[in-house]
Amino acid sequence: SQRTKIKALLTGEHVGTEVTVKGWVRAFRQNRFIALNDGSTNNNIQIVVDFENTDPALLKRITVGAAISVTGTVIASLGQGQTVEIPAATIEILGDSDPEKYPIQPKKHSLEFLRENAHLRFRTNTFGAIFRVRNTLAFAIHQFLQDRGFVYLHTPIITGSDAEGAGETFHVTNFDLNNIPKTDTGEIDHKQDFFGRSTNLTVSGQLEGELGAMALSDIYTFGPTFRAENSNTTRHLAEFWMIEPEMAFYDLKDNADLAEAMLKYVINAALEKNKEDLEFLNQRLAEEEKQKPQNERSELSLLDKLQFCLSNDFVRISYTEAIDILRDSPANKKKKFQYLIEGWGADLQSEHERYLVEKHFKKPVILTDYPKDIKSFYMRQNDDGKTVAAMDILFPGIGEIVGGSQREERLDRLEQRMDELGIPKDELWWFLDTRRFGTCPHAGFGLGFERLVLFVTGMGNIRDVIPFPRFPKNAEF
Ligand code: 4AD
Ligand code: MG
Repeated sequence: SQRTKIKALLTGEHVGTEVTVKGWVRAFRQNRFIALNDGSTNNNIQIVVDFENTDPALLKRITVGAAISVTGTVIASLGQGQTVEIPAATIEILGDSDPEKYPIQPKKHSLEFLRENAHLRFRTNTFGAIFRVRNTLAFAIHQFLQDRGFVYLHTPIITGSDAEGAGETFHVTNFDLNNIPKTDTGEIDHKQDFFGRSTNLTVSGQLEGELGAMALSDIYTFGPTFRAENSNTTRHLAEFWMIEPEMAFYDLKDNADLAEAMLKYVINAALEKNKEDLEFLNQRLAEEEKQKPQNERSELSLLDKLQFCLSNDFVRISYTEAIDILRDSPANKKKKFQYLIEGWGADLQSEHERYLVEKHFKKPVILTDYPKDIKSFYMRQNDDGKTVAAMDILFPGIGEIVGGSQREERLDRLEQRMDELGIPKDELWWFLDTRRFGTCPHAGFGLGFERLVLFVTGMGNIRDVIPFPRFPKNAEF
């Protein structure tokens, strides 16, 4: 049967017509008013029940969480807070919900509680808003890149390589656990992982993406990536989604220009398409901020922060300049950092990144030209012999949201760096071949999708912006 979505009904254009709505009961007051939600918007439609003429057995089954179907003629609402309502002509219970057992009650639940009930948290206003915004951001990323002629390239999830060379991979095997293959010396023989070779879940689609860019010019990947790392923080997941554009004939500046334009485009798309949801999340964050002591409160509201990103050029400075700022900062001198900045060469912690963005520049920052020893083997070596053409984009409240670089396209320099780092060249022969046959300057970056959603929704924990977060001991469904 035809049904009308609640978002469409609330525009008021259906007044006077008979419609069918289907959804889940959010509240039922005085045996008379049903607040019904179908996920198309956070706003509920009010269904008015003629309880005197309704079977008491049916009334009893209109409980919080139940799925129902209602038919009636839409009228302009007399009550406050809603534009339209529907006096129910017929009500059908599609799925009962035992009010004694249903965990999502019409009250404020903590995010921790909802994480433990992740299978039902979609039915709250907060998570409804988050996942509609997430959807818009994903679509806008495709739109932005497609408009520029990029080819969406699907890279493998099972791979034989560790693109970041950090050894933070999950092995993939089809071992019979009662009969794990062992080497002569008694260790697990990972050569048998995948019919004769060692395999893992991908940490990045970049290396395969580079192969595509060296023929199709501009490509991007957008898929899940996996890291067996430090995932017990509010910024890390063991499984996260990454967008990795890779462009032939781009240098580092072109790369930064593209990333900045893309971030602005997608944030703007969310502001345009998810106005209500972002207003709701803005309000939510404002209430949360009120609980904090005055000096810890954010100066900007969520909507201000988003607008602020759109209307400012991102600051672009080198790692070397950033280190000088950090070393001489009051935070460093007063030993306020957990990791003090001693000098050049130090890896930046998220507290340093956030200091630069939130306290010093008060704008998003693109940091470039990092020391080669704290970056990956494939980054292009600068003429100073010490740094590489890397870039990280740092966002308020988040720290690193993008990591990228111009790539080392010179075979001799690349091989020399791989030797220095002990990366086996024979295993990456296919990667090196692109440098043997028609090599060219190229660049790319990786945008952590959940970090983007975290920023745009103003949420505090990355586990709340992915439908099914994977972190240690969390893989029930
Ligand atoms: O800086 P990363 O490790 O860079 C790469 O993987 C490159 N191959 C990208 C490229 O140049 N094509 O990761 C890129 C981004 C980070 O900036 C961060 O936003 C996100 O991915 N990220 C994570 N997000 C959630 N959980 C984790 N464990 C993450 N690790 C990285
Ligand atoms: Mg990085």
